[in-house]
Amino acid sequence: MNDILPEQSPAWQYLEEKFLGVVNNYSYGEIRTPLVEQTELFNRSIGEVTDIVEKEMYCFEDRNGERIALRPEGTASIVRAGIEHGLLFNQTQRFWYRGPMFRYEKPQKGRYRQFHQIGVEAFGMGGADIDAEVILLSASLWRSLGIIDSLTLEINSLGSNEARAQYKRALVEFLSEREEQLDDDSKRRLHTNPLRILDSKDASTQALLDGAPNLLDYLDEDSQAHFSALRAILDSANIKYVINSRLVRGLDYYNKTVFEWTTDKLGAQGTVCAGGRYDGMVEQLGGKSTPAVGFAMGEERLLLLLETLGVLPSSAGESLDIYLSAQEKGLQPQVILLAEELRSQFPGLKIRTHCAGLKNILNKARQSGAQKIVLIKTMQAGGITATLWHGQQITADLTVANLIEALDSEN
Ligand code: HAM
Repeated sequence: MNDILPEQSPAWQYLEEKFLGVVNNYSYGEIRTPLVEQTELFNRSIGEVTDIVEKEMYCFEDRNGERIALRPEGTASIVRAGIEHGLLFNQTQRFWYRGPMFRYEKPQKGRYRQFHQIGVEAFGMGGADIDAEVILLSASLWRSLGIIDSLTLEINSLGSNEARAQYKRALVEFLSEREEQLDDDSKRRLHTNPLRILDSKDASTQALLDGAPNLLDYLDEDSQAHFSALRAILDSANIKYVINSRLVRGLDYYNKTVFEWTTDKLGAQGTVCAGGRYDGMVEQLGGKSTPAVGFAMGEERLLLLLETLGVLPSSAGESLDIYLSAQEKGLQPQVILLAEELRSQFPGLKIRTHCAGLKNILNKARQSGAQKIVLIKTMQAGGITATLWHGQQITADLTVANLIEALDSEN
């Protein structure tokens, strides 16, 4: 779990502002949910035999003995909130969210125990057009960040529950006959969550899968048509993609469309954004059957990518405009009051006050890197007089009104 320090924050703000611009552009509304939920919510939606539920959730009992968990992702909470507030039944909704998520994972570059996601979820729309829209929304963010050429869109369809169950049987039959060739993790999954074997990182398991039945051959007609329609929209919108029939995702709630945006620039943790359709979740959590689709992106991974590609804007806009100090002891209260006045006159400027010892004050002020330095020199009955430094140029004995005028004329 990382601290995000002031020197790192401008990059986070940059990313989030870009995202905000995009979701506004697509008319999505923000939703914020609590960081904790009942553990049962995640067990039921993400799936009992997923890594997240089996070994990654931070679960505890509250003082009342209720089992609660730090949220490992946002989707389940949003479905819970949507049902609770009556936002989903017979309606269409488009939400966006951001915030910390928690998973007890093995930390490494791009994988943390507290990480931050920004994402979207759209409810009440079952067609391929909304699947395409959420993918296009993500592509729009990549374009505005200047990273679209470094990302690959992988898509797949998991079909209906029935089609997937049929495929699962065929896959288990194929792999059971070759069980001894599987890696240990896949052997275990063969009996718990066989589709996840398709995701195995083990080279010999992957080689074995080359001869295995293909998920796309088992798709029901409706899912096939849905997948073709999605591809047609992506083609028309000039969005390049790769069909990866082994893309199954690590959460159990998906059906039909699943997708990931990946990069080869970040090593093992190369998925920066992932999502898909989860038409069964609302009903499963107690609401009326409601189609849904969404995605979440990992902010840490995106920031690593922006940094690696060198496309973060320089912090030029971050520099200090005015450094304000007393020159003599006893004038410090005037500094605070003058700063208030300047800030209300120039709300766009960065103005910092000096609230410490006054020895070598001009040097200290210069070290701040401020464009302009204002030192309060004297206080008289009518007010203060100040000296303004702008580079080498010095203007002395300014009243407050003169100072504001001088600053204004230079802005
Ligand atoms: P997910 O694939 O578990 O999906 O996570 C989405 C993204 O969050 C990942 O692609 C990655 O960028 C980031 N991420 C996940 N775990 C970590 C971690 N430990 N450290 C850093 N980044 C991480 C979901 O969470 C689904 N709720 C996505 C979704 C929304 N599907 C439909 N709607």
